Amino acid sequence: MDAGNLCGDDERQVPVVFGALKAMRYAATGLGRFDLRFLPAYVRESKQSGVPVVHIAAADIPDVAPYVVKQVGDVRVGIVSFGDADPKDDQFELKKRRYAAFAAARQACDVLVLLDLANVATDEWLQRNADRFGSPDLVIGGEARWGLFEPKVVGKTRIMPVCNEARYVGVAKVGVAPGQELKVGFTWYHLDGNCAEDPDVKKSVSDYVEATHKTMQTPMPPARSTQASSGTYYDSRTCAPCHKSEQDHWTTSVHAGATRKLIEQRSMSLQCLPCHSEKYRQTKQYSASDDQYNQGVECASCHIRVLPHGAGGPPKMTTAGIDLDTCRVCHTRERSPEFERRSKEYWDKAGHKAAKES
Ligand code: HEC
Ligand code: HEC
Ligand code: HEC
Ligand code: HEC
Repeated sequence: MDAGNLCGDDERQVPVVFGALKAMRYAATGLGRFDLRFLPAYVRESKQSGVPVVHIAAADIPDVAPYVVKQVGDVRVGIVSFGDADPKDDQFELKKRRYAAFAAARQACDVLVLLDLANVATDEWLQRNADRFGSPDLVIGGEARWGLFEPKVVGKTRIMPVCNEARYVGVAKVGVAPGQELKVGFTWYHLDGNCAEDPDVKKSVSDYVEATHKTMQTPMPPARSTQASSGTYYDSRTCAPCHKSEQDHWTTSVHAGATRKLIEQRSMSLQCLPCHSEKYRQTKQYSASDDQYNQGVECASCHIRVLPHGAGGPPKMTTAGIDLDTCRVCHTRERSPEFERRSKEYWDKAGHKAAKES
């Protein structure tokens, strides 16, 4: 399932997206603010593909339910979606619908998944409502949960890592036994060139590209041998021989000292490491000696899409394989409140050109 906002700026992407969701056997998708622009196409494609669309504002949308319940063996699995907040909507009405849909879905199922693109289910919200309405078992959140690299537990709820830009797909294995707490295992897979393509999906993507003469907004990263966090760690020292000026610049940047900062703060914890340590991101390991040479946010944290490459370099890209979404994984609104407003400044500081010119 997905929380929503899956299409870019073109309605013709809707059938392509639903084709992919069907091929991946999605149980449901939520509706985001961007999706709402193409609502009739969503409803049509949802019916055609058999992938239900869920949304709390369903009273206004025929053929869309506020939640669905799927029977999986003996277990009733519910999926409820809070959608995405549009500041123009009546906020009070939205709130009422959220609580009503949530309470009804909680009653109707054994395991409840909350799709929360709107970032309503904050830790505080979950704690506050646990007694009144019950807790969701899993939350698939929005932007506010970017940067989460493994499930986070709040009370009885597991908040799942969020994958931005469809570069990764997260797989949660949920074990249910009567009278026992849920068991949840999580892995994520990098959708890179090593991933086998579904022939039908491949065809619908290339038909779309041909019909519109443009590439999909999110180009697939080139073939790489890495999953998000399964151990391909590129030590920055290996780049130095060929990229001396970038290395010199990076070494003096705060990124290079990001792990040291945690050590100084005595915060080598799972809450902090995923954004402050590339080594941890890839290997799930760390040690207090990790600052003996510059470590933290490293070359590969930003340039993973061009790695590995040989002495000839990677195929030429316009921006060294990165864009602002590369940064947003860590520069979230919560952790880097100035980032969106000053993104150009941040970008220039992180890039190595200024250092070369001066
Ligand atoms: C979602 C990613 C993310 C997580 C998780 C995270 N950080 Fe950060 N942290 C950042 C980013 C990005 C910045 C830079 C913010 C800026 O300057 O815009 C930062 C900056 C900092 C700074 C320097 C700025 C300051 O406020 O003094 C410290 C110290 C810090 N983080 C500590 C921590 C600790 C301790 C934790 C765990 C409790 C943590 N961080 C978790 C991304 C994260
Ligand atoms: C054996 C030499 C060599 C090593 C080692 C090496 N590179 Fe490169 N790299 C190149 C060459 C050659 C190019 C292409 C010419 C250029 O842009 O400087 C290149 C280009 C790049 C680019 C620019 C891509 C673009 O299209 O603009 C990035 C980013 C990059 N390398 C990152 C890295 C990182 C990160 C590492 C370490 C993990 C690394 N390289 C290790 C030789 C190397
Ligand atoms: C893996 C997580 C991560 C990624 C990816 C990342 N950053 Fe950061 N960034 C951090 C952390 C953590 C800090 C704070 C380090 C510290 O203070 O020790 C930081 C700090 C910074 C700072 C310094 C802020 C200041 O106040 O001086 C700039 C600028 C910056 N990042 C820009 C970027 C840009 C631009 C990108 C994308 C091209 C990017 N970062 C990608 C984690 C990240
Ligand atoms: C915080 C993100 C970040 C980190 C960490 C980072 N870079 Fe970059 N890198 C950038 C940005 C931004 C650019 C500029 C892209 C553009 O605008 O074309 C860039 C450009 C490059 C280029 C293209 C040529 C150039 O200088 O513009 C190379 C090569 C490169 N980086 C290598 C490295 C190496 C090697 C390291 C580690 C020693 C490293 N980068 C660390 C963000 C980063």
